[in-house]
Amino acid sequence: MIRIAAVGDVHVDKDVVGRYRPALEQLPDRADALLVAGDLTRHGTVDEAKCFATEFGGLGVPVVVVLGNHDHQSDQEQQVTEVLTDSGITVLECSATVLEIRGHRLGIAGAKGFGGGFAGACASNFGEREMKQFVGTTEEISARLGEALRSVRCDALVALTHYSPVPDTLVGEPLEIYAFLGCYQLGHAVDSAPTALALHGHAHHGSERGRTPGGVPVRNVAHPVIKQAYNVYQLLSESVDAPLVPA
Ligand SMILES: [Fe+2]
Repeated sequence: MIRIAAVGDVHVDKDVVGRYRPALEQLPDRADALLVAGDLTRHGTVDEAKCFATEFGGLGVPVVVVLGNHDHQSDQEQQVTEVLTDSGITVLECSATVLEIRGHRLGIAGAKGFGGGFAGACASNFGEREMKQFVGTTEEISARLGEALRSVRCDALVALTHYSPVPDTLVGEPLEIYAFLGCYQLGHAVDSAPTALALHGHAHHGSERGRTPGGVPVRNVAHPVIKQAYNVYQLLSESVDAPLVPA
């Protein structure tokens, strides 16, 4: 069994440093890796990235993250990525990594993702240049996530995004903003590979559990949804939902 700790939308700035750390320091006893589903910072500044690295770095388990829309707010996503990488944190963007865990290969493919909506209420690649650019971004990121997922050779495969691949985990959010919280193309990407679990954030008022059309379990791990420092999920096990609840 592989145990994955996951959280998203931690929005770290100076005033948040120290808030997650006591629970994070117990991670080596509770999980084999920590995945963070974007919105690591409030406004995507280098200083905030350093605060995130202070809080989430050096934990004794591998830490793998994707960026969220907040991490792009200052147009410094490259510098933010460098700060995190220099701190030993793996940042995925339409890319994948493999962790060796007790003889098992855990594959993680990640991307920020993008909005666009879901069946019956989605933007289409038609009309104005601006609309085609919007949907083109959705389609490109989703296609590249699918390629990353299918490229991995592993025993257990996880998709990590900030935006949601399904509407199920958005329940609780206003219907009017679903199209800005995720897109069906990400769900197709997840279903294009033998994905065991899809993790996302972004929907602070959403729901934890969902499933892609292909049957892959989806979990919204936004901190306001899970209401704790991280949830733990099990792979290579009968259920992804661990009975163990972190403090
Ligand atoms: Fe977000």
